[in-house]
Amino acid sequence: MKVPVHLPNILITGANGQLGSSLALLCNSKDANFFFTDIAELDVTSKSFVEKYISKNKIDIVINCAAYTNVEKAEDEPEIAEKLNATAPSYLAQSCLKHSAFLIHISTDFVFGGGAKRKEPITERVKPAPLNVYGASKLQGEENIKASGCNYLIIRTSWLFSEFGGNFVKTILSLLSSKSEIKVVDDQKGTPTYAGDLAKAVYRIAMKVAENKKNIRRFVGLNQIYNYSNLGECTWYEFAVKIQQLAKVKFSAMAAARKASGKRAQKSHVIPCTSVEFPSKAVRPQYSVLSKEKIRKHFSLTIPAWQTSLKKCLKNL
Ligand SMILES: NC(=O)c1ccc[n+]([C@@H]2O[C@H](COP(=O)([O-])OP(=O)(O)OC[C@H]3O[C@@H](n4cnc5c(N)ncnc54)[C@H](OP(=O)(O)O)[C@@H]3O)[C@@H](O)[C@H]2O)c1
Repeated sequence: MKVPVHLPNILITGANGQLGSSLALLCNSKDANFFFTDIAELDVTSKSFVEKYISKNKIDIVINCAAYTNVEKAEDEPEIAEKLNATAPSYLAQSCLKHSAFLIHISTDFVFGGGAKRKEPITERVKPAPLNVYGASKLQGEENIKASGCNYLIIRTSWLFSEFGGNFVKTILSLLSSKSEIKVVDDQKGTPTYAGDLAKAVYRIAMKVAENKKNIRRFVGLNQIYNYSNLGECTWYEFAVKIQQLAKVKFSAMAAARKASGKRAQKSHVIPCTSVEFPSKAVRPQYSVLSKEKIRKHFSLTIPAWQTSLKKCLKNL
């Protein structure tokens, strides 16, 4: 007689976002019972909804993809950013503690305030020093989780792009097709991260947590912070130039279509500029390249270069 296997119940919050949508493509019902929720199904800023949902559905693992990610707008509405990025994670953590569930939470490179002089990738041991409201709210979220006493793993990532939602790749593609000249900041360095790659890493880690659930103290990543981004580094300008190069084929097709429709074909120029020339409310770190060694070693991950994953993403778009 076959013994029924208990599949873990995994809750994904903010499931309609870039990371949540990328995770949905990977999730296999043979591995777990997945509960995909976004604000309509589970508003993570409601303590009572969070508690009821986790309790009623006997959740074993929470993957928190819900967040306030508009860095610029956060400067104008810090309370809303704080509620979603700092308070909501503490509600999730408290319920995880109560129901012995494990919390996988996503954070950001913007918890760091890396200056231009920094040349070495930032390890998990570097002290955070956020420069903007978004970064401060995400750091507070990390602190709230750590203080809650629940079992957790926090993954800091950077410069997410994907086929889903709004992101830098889509913005640049749209500008390239509508403007003759676009200026892009060339004095901030970081690493673009394909949400599909991050999703793979998160999924692998969630499966490892599930395997170790009965003896969670032995789990190698217990109550730790990890960095994850693609390999390599670039400025926003270099990122935009690469997008233009790789999307060339797409644009020649678009240009041909424009010509056929009688409109003049445009050739767009990408021009580097400084952060000073591109004023924004939120101050951003000049260097926020994350070191990935810890996560790569602990979870035996193969991490692709950002250019390779950008190619993949553009193909899918
Ligand atoms: N995007 C980046 O460049 C970046 C960089 C570094 C780190 N990260 C981190 O990576 C994680 C995933 O980012 P992402 O780009 O996938 O984010 P995203 O695309 O903005 O997705 C966040 C999702 O959360 C939803 N949400 C908003 N309020 C909610 C609520 N009260 N309850 C439940 N869900 C709610 C959003 O819905 P609406 O769209 O309707 O608001 C959206 O579907 C986040 O923790 C983020 O801080 C992102």
